[in-house]
Amino acid sequence: MVTLSSALKERLSQPLKIGDFEVNSRVLQSPLSGVTDLVFRRLVRRYAPTSMMYTEMVNATGLHYVKQLPKIMEVDPNERPISIQLFDCRPDFLAEAAQMAVAEGADTVDINMGCPVNKITKNGGGSSLLRQPELAGEIVRSVVNAVNVPVTVKTRIGWTDKEINILDFAKRMEDAGAKMLTVHGRTRAQGYNGTAKWEWIAKVKEVLSIPVIANGDIFSVEAAVKCLEQTGADGVMCSRGTLGYPFLVGEVDYFLKTGEAKPTPTPVERLQCAREHLQMLFEYKGDRGVRQARKHMTWYSKGFMGAAELRGQLSTIENVQQGLELIDQAIARLVESSETVQEDEAEAALIPAGAL
Ligand SMILES: Cc1cc2nc3c(=O)[nH]c(=O)nc-3n(C[C@H](O)[C@H](O)[C@H](O)COP(=O)(O)O)c2cc1C
Repeated sequence: MVTLSSALKERLSQPLKIGDFEVNSRVLQSPLSGVTDLVFRRLVRRYAPTSMMYTEMVNATGLHYVKQLPKIMEVDPNERPISIQLFDCRPDFLAEAAQMAVAEGADTVDINMGCPVNKITKNGGGSSLLRQPELAGEIVRSVVNAVNVPVTVKTRIGWTDKEINILDFAKRMEDAGAKMLTVHGRTRAQGYNGTAKWEWIAKVKEVLSIPVIANGDIFSVEAAVKCLEQTGADGVMCSRGTLGYPFLVGEVDYFLKTGEAKPTPTPVERLQCAREHLQMLFEYKGDRGVRQARKHMTWYSKGFMGAAELRGQLSTIENVQQGLELIDQAIARLVESSETVQEDEAEAALIPAGAL
C-alpha cells in the first residue's frame, strides 16, 4: 500500500485557491460527457462532499440559438463546489453562455480545449484550440470580462507528438486571465490511448503561477499519489476511473487528508450503488434515463462471481423494474454465497486442528 509522505500532505493541506474561490479538496471529478449529470455527481459527492465537480460539456452555440437551459447544464442549488463546462470557438457565444452558467449557480466556468472528437474539433472547438492559441486567449479574455466567477481551462499537451505546445499555450491561458489549468497528459492524436505523459504536467507546473491540475490515468489512490509526487501539481482530476465507481474521488480525497486508506466497497455495496443510480436516473430523466443507465450498469458489473452474465443482461434493460430486479437477484446470490463461505469457515473452525 502507498504511503503519504509528510511533504506531500503538507503541500496539499491548504485549500485549493481558484482565483478567490476556495475548495477544500485537492481531488476533482472530471467533466464526462454522457456521464457526469446531476445524478452521477450526487453519488460522487456523497463520498467526496468537498470536491469540485463538473457538468458535462455544454455547447455555447446551441445555448445562443435555443436560449433554453439544457438538462446537462442543470445544477442542484445544494451541490457546491460546481463548475459548468462550456465548449465552442466563438468568444462572444462563450461569454454569453458563461453568464447563463453563472446564473444557474456555477462557482467557476471551465472552457473545454481538450476534446478530441471530430464533431467538436472540425467546428473549431475542444482540442483544435491548441492549434489556435491566439483565439484561445481571446476566448478566455472574453469570458473573464463577462462573468464575476473564476474562469478555468481544461486542455491536452498538444495536437500530436510533434506538436506539443502546452508550455506556450498554458502561459497564454494564464496571461489571458485563466485562474486554473487542468492538463490531460495526452495529445489529441492519442485520444484515450497510450499512457498519459505526466512529465509534461510537471513542466507546466514549473512555468505557471495559477494552480495546475493533473489529469490522465488516475485510476487508483496509488496512481493519484504517484502523479502528485511526479508532477508537483496542485491537485488531481479523476476521469475514467470513476465509471461504475463513484467512490474513487472520495477514496483519494480521504487518503490525501488522513494518510489512511478507506475500506473499498464490497461487490454487494457496489451493486447497491448501481441500483440507486438506476433508480435516480429513472426519476430524473424517465425512460431516457433508463437507456442511459445501461452503460453505467455494465461498468458497475465487474469483478465478482456472475458479473459477466449480469453485464450482458443489464446492457439491454428496457425498463427500470427489469433492471432493479436483475440487480436484486445478483445481490441475493452474492449474499447467499458469502453466507455459505462463512458457514464453511465457522464449521472448519469447530474441527480440532489435528483432525484436518
Ligand atoms: C466518456 C468520456 C466523456 C468525456 N467527456 C468530457 C467532457 O465533457 N469534457 C472534458 O473536458 N473532458 C471529457 N472527457 C475527458 C476526461 O475528462 C479526461 O480528460 C480523460 O478521460 C483523461 O483522463 P483518464 O485517463 O483518467 O480517463 C471525457 C472522457 C470520456 C472517457
